[in-house]
Amino acid sequence: MSNAPYDPATEGARMNFKGRMSYGDYLMLDRLLDAQAPLSSAHDELLFIIQHQTSELWMKLAIHEIKAAMAAIAKDDVQPAFKMLARVSRIFEQLNGAWDVLRTMTPSEYTLFRDKLGESSGFQSFQYRSIEFLLGNRNLAMLRPHAHHPELTAELEAILAKPSLYDEALKLLARRGFFIGADGQRTDWRGTRSESPEVAAAWTSVYRDPQRHWELYELAEKLVDFEDYFRRWRFNHVTTVERIIGFKTGTGGTSGVNYLRKMLEIVLFPELWKLRTGL
Ligand code: HEM
Repeated sequence: MSNAPYDPATEGARMNFKGRMSYGDYLMLDRLLDAQAPLSSAHDELLFIIQHQTSELWMKLAIHEIKAAMAAIAKDDVQPAFKMLARVSRIFEQLNGAWDVLRTMTPSEYTLFRDKLGESSGFQSFQYRSIEFLLGNRNLAMLRPHAHHPELTAELEAILAKPSLYDEALKLLARRGFFIGADGQRTDWRGTRSESPEVAAAWTSVYRDPQRHWELYELAEKLVDFEDYFRRWRFNHVTTVERIIGFKTGTGGTSGVNYLRKMLEIVLFPELWKLRTGL
């Protein structure tokens, strides 16, 4: 064995990128890695920025997958939608794991730069609100933090003008012959729908005979799987927040932990959880 430094060019590795697209060019790493600008000299501020930025990148991919899954369900092309929804669950699993990195920051370390954030908060995350609206949690009050950005408001309004992911699943139930009550007549998608006994009965029939309704059954389980990961994200967030700021008010102006605990009660796909009691 030789200890001489190995030159990968000997097996064909390209080493000269003058006039050619390199890894950094393709990924625009100059832009990506130039976007971290701590406002203090605190060591942990870089962690805080990167944790939020990477979360936003994963959210960007989640939105891409959720929108494509919705389009596939609307065309009765449900198998590809299953794959996309499975990916969205894995994205949230990834985001859930990421809290372990942020939890290494203590309250003492966070207070060294918290005042630099001003009134900025994840509460104003446009992509997070897009995900909630896409899923069907359509609290119109959450449009207001984006009112100063007409193009972002227009994007949120475009999501609200169309059925949510859950609405698409209910429309599929109807196309497959199930009675879904008032949900079958809806034309206005703005706002959160009310829970319905007809939809609960339809999903119950699916779960009573999975073999006969396998695709609907698989879709329902993919949705529950995703909501399970999403709940864990909310829970990890509120626990991390309590660990770092206790019961201080948030930089976004809410009561902080108490507000986030209220958000834990939100159920995205209510009938899919309820039916389990009656089976
Ligand atoms: C030191 C870490 C963190 C603290 C202390 C913290 C604190 C808070 C607080 C107090 C709120 C409530 C709104 C407010 O009044 O500000 C909030 C909301 C939120 N935060 Fe965080 N957060 C942290 C990390 C993160 C990270 C890494 C993300 C990832 C993007 C994130 C995303 C969000 C989102 C999306 C909301 C809105 C939740 C909703 O309205 O249901 N947070 N955060």
